[in-house]
This record gives sequence, structure tokens and C-alpha cells, in this order.
Amino acid sequence: MRLDRLISSQGRYSRNEVKKLIRDGLVTVNGEKAATSDIQVDPAVSEVVVAGEPFIYREHIYLMLNKPEGVVSATDDRLHRTVLDLVPPEFSRPGLFPAGRLDADTTGFVLITDDGDFAHRILSPKNHVEKTYIAELADPITDEDVGKLEEGIVLKDGFECLPSKIRVLDDKKIEIKICEGKYHQIKRMLAATGNRVLVLKRTQIGGLPLDIDLLPGKCREITQEELGVITT
Ligand code: URA
Repeated sequence: MRLDRLISSQGRYSRNEVKKLIRDGLVTVNGEKAATSDIQVDPAVSEVVVAGEPFIYREHIYLMLNKPEGVVSATDDRLHRTVLDLVPPEFSRPGLFPAGRLDADTTGFVLITDDGDFAHRILSPKNHVEKTYIAELADPITDEDVGKLEEGIVLKDGFECLPSKIRVLDDKKIEIKICEGKYHQIKRMLAATGNRVLVLKRTQIGGLPLDIDLLPGKCREITQEELGVITT
């Protein structure tokens, strides 16, 4: 791949910035100053250093965001801040999108990536990747409601949900795990029991919990090891 395209593909620097860095002699390939932007490099074998920092090429990036309230899970919105607005420049690159949406008033774990196949794998209900939420409710939940939710509740519009897993934390607070991601799904599931969700937070995707050290609005990379935990 061309050196300037390779470096700019990782998002931190634009193509023009990379060209300037190369002109200024700030990019080395295998210890030699890169003479021009168009030299061919293989990221698997060439050692590239950009402005003194080793360049690490990743085909895809996977980010964990702790979404605050009021931010929308879109790539572009004229009125509201989006989850992509919270991605710092060092992680930003073309093609990023949230793998699954949270409502504007829902907080917690949003996975942002540029890997469409991976996103499909974790979102398709067929693959049984559970999304875990904590829901605070307006009214106490009954054993009968828990039974209905665990069996597969029918929404008011007739949609039959897959079975969910419920842990009652107190009479108005539950942990709920679902593999589907229909619009307002958990709010509608609880509405079908005659209850109302007051507060909703996603705490885990598959086997990977939201990092408790990640403050609302902050974002960090998901490690390769953690990535494996999501789908197992
Ligand atoms: N279910 C909802 O109702 N809202 C969300 O944001 C996520 C799941």
C-alpha cells in the first residue's frame, strides 16, 4: 500500500498532513527517512515510525464508549451530539459507526467500529450475543411479569420477543439480557407488562462488561483479548 494512504487510513492524520510529515522528514520506514509519499509499504513487514511514534496498523478498530444521556447513536445528526462526536481524534477514522443503537436517554456501553462483519455478528439474534441492561422501573415487578419476559413476551404490536434472562435486583430494578435490538425493545417489553422503564443502562455486550473506569462520554479501544470475550 502507498505510504501516505497507509498512515492516513488509521485516521489520526489526514492525507495532506501525512504528506507534510513525509516532506519534513518525520516518517521513517525500516529506519530510513521516507523520501516520497508514494513508496509502497507492507504494514505486516515494514517498520514505520511517524513523528517519533511507532506506527501500528490495524485493519479495523473496535471502541468501547460509555454513552452519556442526550447523545444519539447515529453517525450524523444536525441537532444533537452523536456517539461519533465523542470519539477522540486518535481513534477516529473513516467508516466508523455504532454497532447497535441506544436511545438518546439510555446510557452505557456502545461499541463503535468500522468492521461491518463483526457488527453483524454481534447484532444478529441468530448468534445469541446477549446485551445486558440495568432497568429501573416505575412499578414493582411481579414474578408473573418475570415469567412472561423470560418466556418471550408479546409486545403491544404483536411482535413476539425471544426469551430474555432476568435478575431481579430489587422490586423496581432488574438486570435484563436480550439478544435482539428492536427499536425501544426493553421499554416496550416492560410496557407490555404494564410497567415503565425510568432509567436504562447497557452494562455488557456478550461476555464483555462496560469498563467501570470509563467515565460517561469517554471512549477506549477494545483489546483483541476482550474482542474474543464478546462472542464467547
Ligand atoms: N431497549 C430500549 O428500550 N432502549 C435502548 O436504548 C436499548 C434497548
